[in-house]
Amino acid sequence: MTEQNDLIKGVFVERRNAHRDRRTKQITKAVFPVAGMGTRFLPVTKATPKEMMPVVDKPLIQYAVEEAVEAGITDMVFIIGRNKRAIPDHFDKAYELEAELEMRGKKELLRIVQEVIPKNINCIYIRQPVALGLGHAVLCAEPVVQGEPFAVLLADDLLDGVPSVTAQMSAVFRERQCSILGVENVPREQTGSYGIVSSTPLTAALEQVDAIVEKPKPEQAPSTLAVVGRYILTPRIFHHLRQLQPGAGGEIQLTDGIAALMQEENLLAYRYDGVRYDCGDKLGYLKAVVSFGLKRPEFHDEFAAYLRTVAR
Ligand code: G1P
Repeated sequence: MTEQNDLIKGVFVERRNAHRDRRTKQITKAVFPVAGMGTRFLPVTKATPKEMMPVVDKPLIQYAVEEAVEAGITDMVFIIGRNKRAIPDHFDKAYELEAELEMRGKKELLRIVQEVIPKNINCIYIRQPVALGLGHAVLCAEPVVQGEPFAVLLADDLLDGVPSVTAQMSAVFRERQCSILGVENVPREQTGSYGIVSSTPLTAALEQVDAIVEKPKPEQAPSTLAVVGRYILTPRIFHHLRQLQPGAGGEIQLTDGIAALMQEENLLAYRYDGVRYDCGDKLGYLKAVVSFGLKRPEFHDEFAAYLRTVAR
């Protein structure tokens, strides 16, 4: 009888765990919309994708991918456009370069090149044939994301956080199982550059989103809480993105899809722990280069001394 009881208990526990597994989803896929033209950085972006701009010695897109890897994400989905071949090239194996470095005994450089992306990571590239906006770019990922919740990372927002901001948001997702927006307060005069939320605080870091609007004028913005380029979205977003008409700037806006999604699902805003560098902006990019440069122990002292002599 005890044996039978144990058996029944075992079956029950197994069923309960299977049920939990179905409910408690983890984020394993990240979407990187990288099809934009990068006009703010012309002429450098004429032939080079803006996501390949270096901060010290790594391109912006690699920082974003590393952030996702730290969150346990294994499938990286890049939505690429014309003139973006440098991105797949960066993450592909570089046979000639590796052979050359091997031959010359440059072990450290070989390691750096081979560690651009860990071996267990899948890179998937989807072409966005026409640049119709961020919402459209995310919609292009639907065939690969296939009914799973997923992260979206905009590589020109370089986020420096420990653990990585996507890892922080994945942890919130594991607990809350709903869509989450990474947010921070911005000066009111900048609301026209962001998706802005109005929200009700739940905890120190989490807010319940009540409304979201894309790039409102400062006088019309419902708050100064801005969406930075980090999202965790449930797959229901695709349904809403498909219905959208062009919004602000004549583009299919991800923000409009999220506004529709929150009519039927819970939506949270997360005040991440970290520092953001807006590398879509020249000054933000320069700040990132200086800050990340100063982090390098091999030239921190000399660089800091140099900055003191030139900054007046
Ligand atoms: C996009 C989004 C916006 C968000 C911003 C974060 O705007 O549309 O809602 O706040 O990214 O960087 P973009 O910077 O592409 O104009």
